[in-house]
Amino acid sequence: MARKILIQLDGDPQPSTFDSVVAVDAGADVLLRHGNVTPDAAVPLVHGAMFTRGGDDLASTAIFVGGSDVAAAEAVFDRVRKTFFGPVRVSVLLDPAGANTTASAAVVAAGRHLPLGEPAAVATLRAVVLGGTGPVGQRVARLLARKGVTVTVASRSLSRAEQVCERIASAVPGSRLEPATADSAIIAGTPFAIALAEADLIVAAGAAGATLLGTAGRKMAGRARVLIDLNAVPPAGIEGIAATDKAQQEGSAVVYGALGVGGTKMKIHRAAIQQLFASNDAILDAEELLAIGESL
Ligand SMILES: NC(=O)c1ccc[n+]([C@@H]2O[C@H](COP(=O)([O-])OP(=O)(O)OC[C@H]3O[C@@H](n4cnc5c(N)ncnc54)[C@H](OP(=O)(O)O)[C@@H]3O)[C@@H](O)[C@H]2O)c1
Repeated sequence: MARKILIQLDGDPQPSTFDSVVAVDAGADVLLRHGNVTPDAAVPLVHGAMFTRGGDDLASTAIFVGGSDVAAAEAVFDRVRKTFFGPVRVSVLLDPAGANTTASAAVVAAGRHLPLGEPAAVATLRAVVLGGTGPVGQRVARLLARKGVTVTVASRSLSRAEQVCERIASAVPGSRLEPATADSAIIAGTPFAIALAEADLIVAAGAAGATLLGTAGRKMAGRARVLIDLNAVPPAGIEGIAATDKAQQEGSAVVYGALGVGGTKMKIHRAAIQQLFASNDAILDAEELLAIGESL
């Protein structure tokens, strides 16, 4: 069998060593690491993957698209897919800045406690995604919306939240999304306060070291059965949640911190790399990574 070659297409000047180490641990034999990759620059690199091996051996070449600029990585991912034709293709995984694996792991964690797989029950569920405009938050919101959850996308800027809701709604027809301004001093009766009070699930996907929900906000979110904070850098994104919390019972809620979700994220990442080499036509974005996470 041909050796497993993973081609890293990274938008940053130096391709991510994190992604390289995970790839080797997941079974890649050879890494071809490219930095500063733009959509145009990706095309000849993809041709090199397409036109070298043939038949079953094509499945032993795969592409990982990463980098810290998520929008730039998405543009590369789109171009990579458009470069393929017919059966002449290799499998591709998109996980810039760990956004897809992290968002999938958060939804897997939520699904351990909420009936995300039951259409009738899920239709009654409501979630608030704090920091919902960032790469991770947008994907958490998209994955939950696709499940049928009503999702409030919270941001410090209503227009940014509205843009995210519009983008997800066009990708997920029939989804229920509501934008809200996340005020630091939460005022009773605002859409944000109402969304917190009605939420079954709260996911904090704010920037590292930013607190998005303090004690008063947590009190307001009294109905929430699951709270997940993806920020690992002190202070916590949700006050009172430790980064190491993993399915920690706090009153009527279960809480997870970033490290509590991180183990699942790593498992999804490794399993996704392995899945790349199972065929030559896998396209792994957030939805496919969630399916992998749910099957672990
Ligand atoms: N566990 C893991 O393996 C893992 C992997 C990747 C990321 N993460 C963590 O996941 C979280 C989300 O990552 P990301 O890359 O999506 O984050 P990000 O882009 O840095 O920030 C997400 C959102 O947070 C809001 N924000 C920024 N600064 C803020 C502040 N000072 N106060 C309140 N809100 C602020 C912004 O929304 P608005 O401006 O619209 O309000 C921004 O869009 C981060 O904490 C990151 O460290 C964890």
